[in-house]
Amino acid sequence: MNLKIKNILSKKNKTKIISLTAYSRSVAKILDDYCDIILVGDSMANVLYGHKNTHKMSLDNIIQHSISVKMGVKKSLLVVDMPKGSYTNPKIAFKNAKMIMKKTGCDAVKLENYKNNFKIIKLLTKKKIPVMGHIGYTPQFKKKFKPEGLTIKESKTLLEDALLIEKAGAFSIVLECITSSAAKLITSKLTIPTIGIGSSSNCDGQILVTDDMLGLSGFYPKFVKKYVELDRIIEKAVKKYTRDVKKIKFPSRQNFVDGTKHR
Ligand code: KIV
Repeated sequence: MNLKIKNILSKKNKTKIISLTAYSRSVAKILDDYCDIILVGDSMANVLYGHKNTHKMSLDNIIQHSISVKMGVKKSLLVVDMPKGSYTNPKIAFKNAKMIMKKTGCDAVKLENYKNNFKIIKLLTKKKIPVMGHIGYTPQFKKKFKPEGLTIKESKTLLEDALLIEKAGAFSIVLECITSSAAKLITSKLTIPTIGIGSSSNCDGQILVTDDMLGLSGFYPKFVKKYVELDRIIEKAVKKYTRDVKKIKFPSRQNFVDGTKHR
């Protein structure tokens, strides 16, 4: 088993697992020292490309971004989201997951729970492709946002799905926007780690979309904590640059290339 995955598994019931998304080398490089898992999420479709959902994320596109992210990752476990339509049946899923692993050099793929795709997880893990599951709010398959696990029946269904995903061979599972009681139940019944987003601290780890927590995406639902308002910081810098260029303060002598080495 991949040592990085072994390391993630060993954290269950010991220490919280830290995870964030990255879509580029520069961001991944910053996250790598702090994260256990870096996810190239298909949230990129909304965050970076401005689509209203994740459905238009193409396989080629996520592969290109993952190649960039991989360049910035030394120690974290790198997981790549399989986009909608890339795992419609076990055969297609295997072909595409194999291509993602080969072209990007990532450690694992993530796929959202839908109908009986436990069979897909089973095949991929049998073929030595590590898989992260994803239950609760699954943007690829649910039209409208709705928290899950609000009733005992819903919590039971979530638990059943989580157990099937574990049984199929997944090494961890994202719990997106499920109630704290459902998260507690699932986390206590599973031997693999649960990674929560909007699902309380009753999970083995947490994940956020990096652009959300940096205040860059403009998307701030209740479960996002903005750790910085990077949009304001960038705006301030751009304003200063504009002023400097207009007032001929930039470029100054030290920014001329005359007689200096480039970079
Ligand atoms: O696409 C993504 O960024 C995700 C996380 C929110 C878990 O799936």
